[in-house]
Amino acid sequence: MKIAIDGPAGAGKSTVAKIIADRLDLTYIDTGAMYRAIAYGLIHYDISETDSNAIVDFVREAEISLRNNRVYLNDLDVTSQIREPEVSQMTSVVSVIKEVRNMMVDKQRQIAKGSSVVMDGRDIGSVVLPDADYKFYLDANLEERARRRENELEEKGISQTFESVKEDMVQRDFSDMNRQESPLVCTEDAIKICTDHLTIDEVVQKMIEAVGDGHDL
Ligand code: DC
Repeated sequence: MKIAIDGPAGAGKSTVAKIIADRLDLTYIDTGAMYRAIAYGLIHYDISETDSNAIVDFVREAEISLRNNRVYLNDLDVTSQIREPEVSQMTSVVSVIKEVRNMMVDKQRQIAKGSSVVMDGRDIGSVVLPDADYKFYLDANLEERARRRENELEEKGISQTFESVKEDMVQRDFSDMNRQESPLVCTEDAIKICTDHLTIDEVVQKMIEAVGDGHDL
């Protein structure tokens, strides 16, 4: 079984994806973490964000792996570093490059091949897994998403003001939704869930019900 979850930053995708993976015994693949690992690598290895050729070469050689809820770049555990605001900003820069996206999509399809997965990101239902059995699009209003992201960062010991979290989010949303290459869209066959006034359990419940009903997408 393949489940695709898309939506803007802070909509709750990764939280519910992990729970659904647990409940349905699926492998969870966080594609945002893969883009973040690349962005972290560019900063770490001092590759200029304006040097597209060097970025593409780096992505071609990079080994990204997701194991036991941890993210590795060339065997370096980068799980906590990839959540830093500086990395989030760099992620927007790399994720608009066509060649980078093509390679990432290939890697993501390779990981999903032959397994039952729940994969979250921005282009999963539209590009990476267009034949997914179930597609969901999670959304919430900006204030709510920024508030959630601020809490997540706080739990990880990263301090950033609410206003700055919100500003970063507006910029990232804009880039994700308006880039030329596979922008964030809600596909026609996706079940859209607005999570504004729902608890995590309620969102999960709705999704499990859709899957359990064999909802025909
Ligand atoms: O889900 P996230 O916030 O960790 O994702 C970080 C960034 O990575 C996001 O702003 C856009 C990019 N991304 C993407 O372009 N395509 C994906 N499938 C996943 C993430």
